[in-house]
Amino acid sequence: IKKIGVLTSGGDSPGMNAAIRSVVRTCAFHNIECIGIYRGYQGMIEGDFKEMGPRSVNNIVNKGGTILKSARSVEFRTAEGRKKAYEKLTQAGIDAFVVIGGDGSFTGAEIFNKEYKFPVMGIPGTIDNDIYGTTHTLGYDTALNTVVEVIDKIRDTASSHNRLFFVEVMGRDAGHIALNAGIGAGAEEILIPEEDLGLERLLESLRKSKASGKSSSIVVVSEGDKIGKSVFELKDYVEEHMPEYDVRVSVLGHMQRGGSPSCFDRVLASRLGVKAVESILEGKSNYMVGIINDKIALTPLEQAIKGETEIDLELLRVSDIMTT
Ligand code: F6P
Repeated sequence: IKKIGVLTSGGDSPGMNAAIRSVVRTCAFHNIECIGIYRGYQGMIEGDFKEMGPRSVNNIVNKGGTILKSARSVEFRTAEGRKKAYEKLTQAGIDAFVVIGGDGSFTGAEIFNKEYKFPVMGIPGTIDNDIYGTTHTLGYDTALNTVVEVIDKIRDTASSHNRLFFVEVMGRDAGHIALNAGIGAGAEEILIPEEDLGLERLLESLRKSKASGKSSSIVVVSEGDKIGKSVFELKDYVEEHMPEYDVRVSVLGHMQRGGSPSCFDRVLASRLGVKAVESILEGKSNYMVGIINDKIALTPLEQAIKGETEIDLELLRVSDIMTT
């Protein structure tokens, strides 16, 4: 192995830049050439490559987003697209790549590896924390802190006006952001995809909270929650059944994906990048590098894609007790 490519793919997440920096510098440390592949798999297909040395990644450890840009490439899902990508990689003399992204990006890498026996290594980068084989994905910790900070602000205005707020957070089909940020921000109720609490229980809980003397409340709703109603429909439903509540909605959206990565994400990115490159140099391929019990662990990409992440439902009970 003489030349390793690095790309970011799928939804960006804070810490991706720190991971790029780690891959580039680990390559330099081992006297391996490193090539930045721009715009994810789309850039791979188009040969959008740039040589990177340790100084090309100065001052990015603290930056959100990804300097390599990201994309969700439809063309790479086709055999034809992957063939073009293979040709561009071999023309450029790239013998392996590290992809920083989520399960869609890993699926692409896995198929590519099978088709062309091309060495690949994955680093989990997504705010959703929905990847098997790692307790933390890059960007998740930062997103949690962002969400808590924003809900703290919403709390200020909610309490000034005695209002109930439904706050929608990201996470796709996983409730990790909602559950953890919800507890961290002291939410009255947390609605997540993994557990359908039902509308009755929501009303019950709001009634109890009113009766116990609380005048404002925050309900955190995961975008994929199973109750089957959008935050706006939830607002209407509650206003209809509990007209005493003045309800507002706040959809946090893409702000959750931005911002300077937390120290945790920066350290994680640095560790994962080192392990990804060194594993390739040891002849390993088709793995995801993750963290389990604070130890860096390799999981076959196939398992990382297919395995289900579990949500700790004990956290819901903790949340209930906290709202007593
Ligand atoms: O996977 C990260 C994520 O931010 C999800 O939480 C969200 O559902 C999705 O990406 C949004 O995707 P897009 O940026 O394409 O709108």
